[in-house]
Amino acid sequence: MNRMETADLKKTVALLLHKQKGLLAMDESTSTCNKRFEALGIPQTEEYRRKYRELIVTTPGLEESISGAILFDETINQSITDGTLMIDVLKQKGIVPGIKVDEGAVPLDRFPGEKITEGLDGLGKRLADYYAKGARFAKWRAVINIGEGIPTITAIKTNAYNLARYAVLCQQAGLVPIVEPEVLMDGNHSLQQCSEVTHQVLHAVFNALFDQHVEFEGMILKPNMVLPGLESPVQDSIDVVADATVNCFLRCVPAAVPGIAFLSGGQSGQLASERLNAMHIRFKDKMPWELTFSFSRAIQQPALEAWKGDDNNVAIAQKLLYHRAWCNSMARQGLYKPEMEKEIPDQL
Ligand code: 13P
Repeated sequence: MNRMETADLKKTVALLLHKQKGLLAMDESTSTCNKRFEALGIPQTEEYRRKYRELIVTTPGLEESISGAILFDETINQSITDGTLMIDVLKQKGIVPGIKVDEGAVPLDRFPGEKITEGLDGLGKRLADYYAKGARFAKWRAVINIGEGIPTITAIKTNAYNLARYAVLCQQAGLVPIVEPEVLMDGNHSLQQCSEVTHQVLHAVFNALFDQHVEFEGMILKPNMVLPGLESPVQDSIDVVADATVNCFLRCVPAAVPGIAFLSGGQSGQLASERLNAMHIRFKDKMPWELTFSFSRAIQQPALEAWKGDDNNVAIAQKLLYHRAWCNSMARQGLYKPEMEKEIPDQL
């Protein structure tokens, strides 16, 4: 890479890792979005998905807490009611537009219960098109399951290889890669098991990134927090989770990586904020990278439930979205307090 290209990537990274802000993942694939709509009785059509994304991008003050928003391919081509492209609405607010570029996880042949993420074929061309449309960063999610005899080293290495290949292509195209290896919360595994698997996965991912000459300064890691499985009989305290998570990263994530932005993975909004906040309080000044959020459900869920597909509920849904984003902005600074859950700012 030449110096100019590196400087551009670093500029985008600096905008995304603003000290008071984090990322909003609004890149649910059509099937994931439809599943969430179905659960709330919202029609599963392109127009309703457009309306919902319009609600999100037009939320007043969203840019106070959100530095970048990850879009899905359908959304990057859509406009809000007045005809402005969604991507331009984000840019006008100073929110950096990003794009999900993986094509989803499919079963990994001969490895029951494991998955591999697809989407490398033709990716260079797609990235060039997204850059031309205004995207400045991208996302690729790999999925790792914990269960009986899994994950296997094959699943970990194959996913790590693909993540690294994607990351190189992004940097070549001028987009900052968000590298997302997600160890899922499903199952009854312990926090210790999640810690061991996350450790192994991160080592494999960084080895692959190193082997393929990814520039660490021009990427962001999007990992899971280290958590007990959703069905685990032991649900560890916020401080135990915070310590296990940051200690795992201190061992596995090079200091040259500028930032870590968590996925929420199915935690409640409040827990996700509390855990991120605790990490900042307990590891203040001890972390070499920025530590922030890149949540979908833990920001959007209350807004989606309030909206229910009804135009009359847009204003209240936007207040709830603003509020969750703000709680996470506070957590990202170690300033979050559970009492804030009741403070829906009324300037809206
Ligand atoms: P959640 O925060 O809902 O886990 O989604 C984040 C994400 O972008 C998953 O790829």
